[in-house]
Amino acid sequence: MSRQEPVKIAPAEGKLGVLIPGIGAVSTTFIAGVEAIKQGLALPVGSLTQMATIRLGKRTEGRSPYIRDFVPLAGLNDLVFGGWDIYEDTAFEAAKNAAVLETALLEQVREPLSALKPMKAVFEQEYVKRITGPNVKTEGTKFDKAQALIEDIRNFKSETGASRLVMVWCGSTEVFHRSSEVHQSLASFEEAMKRNDPEIAPSQIYAYASLMSGVPFANGAPNLTHDIPVLLDLARERNIPICGKDFKTGQTFMKTLLAPGLKSRMLGVHGWFSTNILGNRDGEVLEDPGSFKSKEETKLSVLDQILQPDLYPDLYAKLYHAVRINYYPPRGDSKEGWDNIDIFGWLGYPMQIKIDFLCRDSILAAPLVLDLVLFLDLAQRAGMKGIQEWLSFYFKAPMTAPGLYPEHDIFIQLMKLKNTLRWMRGEDLITHLGLEYYD
Ligand SMILES: NC(=O)c1ccc[n+]([C@@H]2O[C@H](COP(=O)([O-])OP(=O)(O)OC[C@H]3O[C@@H](n4cnc5c(N)ncnc54)[C@H](O)[C@@H]3O)[C@@H](O)[C@H]2O)c1
Repeated sequence: MSRQEPVKIAPAEGKLGVLIPGIGAVSTTFIAGVEAIKQGLALPVGSLTQMATIRLGKRTEGRSPYIRDFVPLAGLNDLVFGGWDIYEDTAFEAAKNAAVLETALLEQVREPLSALKPMKAVFEQEYVKRITGPNVKTEGTKFDKAQALIEDIRNFKSETGASRLVMVWCGSTEVFHRSSEVHQSLASFEEAMKRNDPEIAPSQIYAYASLMSGVPFANGAPNLTHDIPVLLDLARERNIPICGKDFKTGQTFMKTLLAPGLKSRMLGVHGWFSTNILGNRDGEVLEDPGSFKSKEETKLSVLDQILQPDLYPDLYAKLYHAVRINYYPPRGDSKEGWDNIDIFGWLGYPMQIKIDFLCRDSILAAPLVLDLVLFLDLAQRAGMKGIQEWLSFYFKAPMTAPGLYPEHDIFIQLMKLKNTLRWMRGEDLITHLGLEYYD
């Protein structure tokens, strides 16, 4: 494949402000981690932008720079953090409550974390049923609250001196709802906010405020949020990159590793039963059937798309797939996810695979937040707008253009991500054809 002209990318000058609705387990593990890494206390394990290399040219050329040296990313020292939460706890207190990181490590990053005091949240009990807190905006309509968020964003930018911003939703999972009439156009959306229409979720008000402020937006939860016509249009019209939904971390990460492998060998699957126990606040929120429904939808969608039962009815048409999550406080953030997979091989002979993943939810999610922040900022400086499908790698339910099915296979997602970076820099795309080595 011939080389492209490199894409023009504005330099990563100045500070990059990271704005986060939801100062909870994931976001504080991310922020504390960045501060610890800056001090040389730990390594950014799990982050492609910090640890991964990218092969360029032929295998014989020996060119494999770090991604961070290949594309102009913001540096960790340039990141400044802010956010909103319904609780008044500073990021330090929230990190202590979340109990993901050890106290000894947290003490070493106490100062920057204590300085992060969450701004008042836009919150609605109807959308997150199991928690309630005092740090919320109560004045005016949803439209007024959106204006207050826009004001928060403006103030954060001027107080920190950030030259660019990115917003990542790390708030609780909202109840399942579908796109409706009010989500179609800017006029209907703003009108609905002015009359406090219940169809407008708090996360949508943040996404609207972000886009109206020209700030790229990622959604780490399964909520509908910006996956609605009005906000998709707004992102394109205003040249803002967006992505989502729902960080791909524990069990679904495993699923998207294993399912492509089984399919690649044309092995059949009769059933895939997944169950989880977790005891953090996320687990508590997911006890509510409405919030669980949002999660279930994104978790279930993965297998169907990877296994393509329509193309392979003999292997996958009868697949029984179930996902359960149980709140179990003793485990805290240390989730345990079990998978029982009933597969079959040659002549239909049955076999079983069991996975018992004793993972740490926020430890898996934190590097994803970092990569998304840096890549979304890169995309904006490269003039890329709307849904960033190349960032599907990070999500359980990747957003795609209307009518396009999402790609869930993690290896295809990684190839797409790296080819997008090669394309940005005018390098050959790698197809893995490789015939030239044998000419
Ligand atoms: N950890 C993972 O591996 C993982 C994977 C995929 C998705 N997620 C999602 O990421 C999100 C964060 O997870 P977590 O473990 O940090 O949860 P958490 O409960 O520790 O933190 C979420 C925070 O959001 C706050 N919040 C809720 N509604 C808000 C609003 N409207 N405005 C501002 N703040 C609000 C809550 O008070 C809470 O402090 C959840 O939606 C979770 O489902 C996490």
